[in-house]
Amino acid sequence: MITGASSGIGKEMARALAAQKFDLILVARNENALEKLSREVMSQHAVQTRVIALDLVQDDAPKTLHAQVSDIDVGLLVASAGIDEMGPFLEKDYADLRRMIRLNVDAPTELAHLFGSNMAAQRRRGKKRTGMILVSSLFAYQGIPNFAVYAATKAYVLTLGEALTAEMKKNGVDVLTLSPGLTATPFAEGLEMNAALLPMIPQSPRRVARVGLRNLGRKMSVVSGLLNKFYAWENRLIPRSWPVHLFSFLIGNAMKSYQRSEEKAKANKARA
Ligand SMILES: NC(=O)c1ccc[n+]([C@@H]2O[C@H](COP(=O)([O-])OP(=O)(O)OC[C@H]3O[C@@H](n4cnc5c(N)ncnc54)[C@H](OP(=O)(O)O)[C@@H]3O)[C@@H](O)[C@H]2O)c1
Repeated sequence: MITGASSGIGKEMARALAAQKFDLILVARNENALEKLSREVMSQHAVQTRVIALDLVQDDAPKTLHAQVSDIDVGLLVASAGIDEMGPFLEKDYADLRRMIRLNVDAPTELAHLFGSNMAAQRRRGKKRTGMILVSSLFAYQGIPNFAVYAATKAYVLTLGEALTAEMKKNGVDVLTLSPGLTATPFAEGLEMNAALLPMIPQSPRRVARVGLRNLGRKMSVVSGLLNKFYAWENRLIPRSWPVHLFSFLIGNAMKSYQRSEEKAKANKARA
């Protein structure tokens, strides 16, 4: 079962898993995109799929999802659905931040709880291995000004995932937390900053999905990409405040550059 399967990393996870002959439950809001993906993987890999169009921000959405697949022993959960709300903390509408917290924090936590219990039961019935991949972010590794709440949601996922890896080992559940850096998906394209100014090398969602699947059952958590790994690692050697200040400068700069080009485009449009 993959949440966020209609796009980006979740979609590539679905393609990679279908290529390995996994039957899929595809979850996101955009039903058309899910149906299209479903037709693609069914025709290319002869797997079975179930499409579930669901807004995971809604009250009780994880329970609804759990009920909708009660006839299936879900052996692998990939929790990829996520959004960001960037911008100065005090300028954000709190309702938007709350929606993000529900999607990025509440939903994966409840899904891990509901499906983790099923997975433990599968183990008791003799199934050897089940697994979960929780998608966090490189931004989880330090506070990120202008992404304060987003980065905090991802730090939560990282900490949750690490603990669950150790806790659920006895239940035969492999838990991996996958932390992508900048990845070329609609998520990154929608950021209101000039990401080209950041000292980061964007990865393809296909590559990130592969890194996740390859490391499931091998590691507790993985940062995708060599440079991203370096950023996460060097944080451990320097005072916690340093990377926060560095990101404050880098992101502030990238946001100003974006705002300047938006203003220029507006002015050009008005002149035309
Ligand atoms: N791209 C990056 O640079 C980057 C970096 C670090 C971490 N990440 C993390 O990677 C994960 C996947 O992001 P992505 O880059 O693949 O972005 P994406 O292409 O925008 O995909 C996000 C997915 O989440 C789903 N989603 C959004 N709101 C939802 C809701 N309310 N209910 C159910 N599903 C919802 C979207 O589907 P619908 O719109 O159809 O609902 C879509 O399938 C996220 O958790 C993100 O935080 C991304």
